[in-house]
Parts: sequence; structure tokens; C-alpha cells
Amino acid sequence: MAQKRYLFTPGPTPVPPEVLAALAEPVVHHRGPDYRAVFGECLERLRSVCRTTSDVLLFTCSGTGAMESAVANICSPGDRVVVVSAGAFGERWQKLAAAYGCEVDALSYTWGETPSPDDLAARLGELGGAKAVFLTHSETSTGVVADLQALAAAAKPSGALVVVDGVSSLGAVPLETDAWGIDVLASGSQKALMTPPGLGLAVVSPAAWGALGTSPRFYFDWEKTRSGQEKLDSAFTPAVSLVRALNVALGMLLEEGLEAAFDRHVRLGRACREGAKAMGLELFSPDEDRSAVVTAIRAPEGIDATELVLALRDRYGVSLVGAHGELKGKVFRIGHIGYYDVFDIATALGAVELALTDAGAEIERGVAVTRALEAFAAPARV
Ligand SMILES: Cc1ncc(COP(=O)(O)O)c(C=O)c1O
Repeated sequence: MAQKRYLFTPGPTPVPPEVLAALAEPVVHHRGPDYRAVFGECLERLRSVCRTTSDVLLFTCSGTGAMESAVANICSPGDRVVVVSAGAFGERWQKLAAAYGCEVDALSYTWGETPSPDDLAARLGELGGAKAVFLTHSETSTGVVADLQALAAAAKPSGALVVVDGVSSLGAVPLETDAWGIDVLASGSQKALMTPPGLGLAVVSPAAWGALGTSPRFYFDWEKTRSGQEKLDSAFTPAVSLVRALNVALGMLLEEGLEAAFDRHVRLGRACREGAKAMGLELFSPDEDRSAVVTAIRAPEGIDATELVLALRDRYGVSLVGAHGELKGKVFRIGHIGYYDVFDIATALGAVELALTDAGAEIERGVAVTRALEAFAAPARV
């Protein structure tokens, strides 16, 4: 029998059977009534999940496409922008803005640090403002979830548009687009939204609509997309099956309730961290409830994290991820967002325990899963 596979990566994430079933339905034409009903419901559900009354624009692309749409629509060549960067995805904002000819001022931190709202306010003060501030809510490369509310509040008085990468945070941790004054939120389908990769979304505030730039754009032109969506139409052929699947997944998330989903993610994060520590492993990501998306763990002395991840996949069918840049070989990451419960954490930790034992690491055996189950059972809100 083929080996059973487990997907514990921070994107793509496991997809519920109901969502997979929706993908298997016959393809319909995107200008017919069947699709329009699904499309309209999906856009409405996205507004609820993003906690916004603004337009949510849906694109056939991954999360980076939605991020690129933000730069292409609000920036003009030569605009000064500030990018807060503490990992691979902060660096992605820098590269995107530079590719569109922006004058990029990076507020850079060592990977794994948590960006400070005071530093951001000070930098904007020194610069005398910027067209936009680009933020990463959940820095998937390090496991840090930033205090987005405080960062957005620090940026607001400067008049800059606040543009957020919510690719791995949307649906997993609290994200109040309107209440926190976020002007643009970019995200994707394949993380906590429990849908396969292939859909990107951008929430655009009235302030952002009023500040569009002059960068060249065509497929990602927000006005084209908005004028299509207003009629429940699309400027280009949409990924009809993925939209149908996303609609089902969003329905499941809203049925659970966003607050309940956030609590579940907090407890999953706790379970993962407590289990890893019980084994004797050192966390790389912060040991705090807010960082509930992915747990980054240092490989024990003498163990190469990249080889550990390969052994987990090839020997046990368990997919985790290693790390990028300077952390490569030193850190591995367990994702716990979306269609995920504590038994997934138990499986991931059990497999890590086995693979580390195979590799000769000195770890505490037989305690991680018990500790994880206990940590998950404790109430999330204290
Ligand atoms: C925080 C963050 N931003 C951006 C991306 C890029 O998204 P995509 O790979 O869907 O283009 C990812 C995906 O891993 C991510 O985790």
C-alpha cells in the first residue's frame, strides 16, 4: 500500500473532505447563474472573514500575486515606501516594491525578532512620511506573529497607507481589517482558509481607492476587477472550481465562528510548543499565544534540520518544512493552521520524536504527546 501522507506545512495546508468534494463538481460557466450565486456568496463570506465592509477583490493567483497587486495599484515609480522586515516575507515586500521602482526604506530586523511599533513611528517621523507602509502580520519564515494592531496604529498618524501581508494569518489569528485601519490586506487560499493554492485576495479600503498610483498594470488592475465583481462578473476567466471550494471552506470557518477558530489556533500553538519543549527541544519562534500559526524549532546539536525534514517525509510520510536563509539546516517548522486539530499536533510531534531518535539525538521520549494534549485542553483565554 502507498505510504499515508500527512501535511503539516504552513501552506498548503490540509483541505477538508467537503471542500475537496466541491472541487470535484462539474465545471460551470462563469457568466451563468450557477456561478454568480456562488461567487456572490463567496465574496460576502470573505468580507466577514476579513472583518471589512470594503471591497474584497479575488484573483486567480497565489498570495504573492495579491501582494504584487497592492504594489502595482497604489505605488508610482519613485514613491517612498517603508517596509518592516523581519524574515523572508518582509524581504518579499522589499523586492516587490523595488521591482516597481519605489524608493524603499527598510526597517529591518534580524530574522526572528518582533517588529516594534515605536521603531516604526520613529522611522516615519525621521522620513517625514511615506506613501505606504508594508507590514507582514504572520512572518511564516520565523513563526513570529507581529502586533499588527499596534504597528498599524503607529503608521496611521503619518498618513501612509497601511498595507498588510495576511497570507498566513487570515482565519488563524485575529485580524480586524477595518477596526485596525488597514488599507490593503493581501492573502491567499491555501493557508488557514483551508482551500488548495490558486486564489489570492486583496481588501481595498476607500482611502486606498483614493490614492491609486501610476505603475503599469493589466491583469492585476484593481479597477478592472472591481467593475467586474460589481456585476458578479469577472474581467478574466476565474478559477470557478477553486471559488466554489473556497466558498465551502469559508462557510465551514464561519460556522465554527472566527473567535472559536482563533481560540483553537492559540491552543494548537500552545500544544505544539509545550510538546516540543517537553521533548527537550529549544523553540526558535516566540513562546507566546499570539504566534499561533507556525512553530519554529531549533534542531538539536549535531542534527541537520534539512535532513530531518527529508527523513520525516521519506520514512514516515510526514511533511514539515525546514527554514530559509541563515536558519537553513538549523531550524524546522511545524505549521498548525486551517483544517487542523490536536491529533495532527500529536502525529507531528510523534513523528519528530521518532525521526530524532533515529538520528541519534538525545531527547526525552514518551512525554511530548501527553504534554501537547494537556496544553490543548487548557482554556485559551485566561
Ligand atoms: C506570510 C506569507 N506571505 C506571503 C506568502 C507567499 O504566498 P504564495 O506562496 O501563496 O505566493 C506566504 C507563503 O508561504 C506567506 O507565508
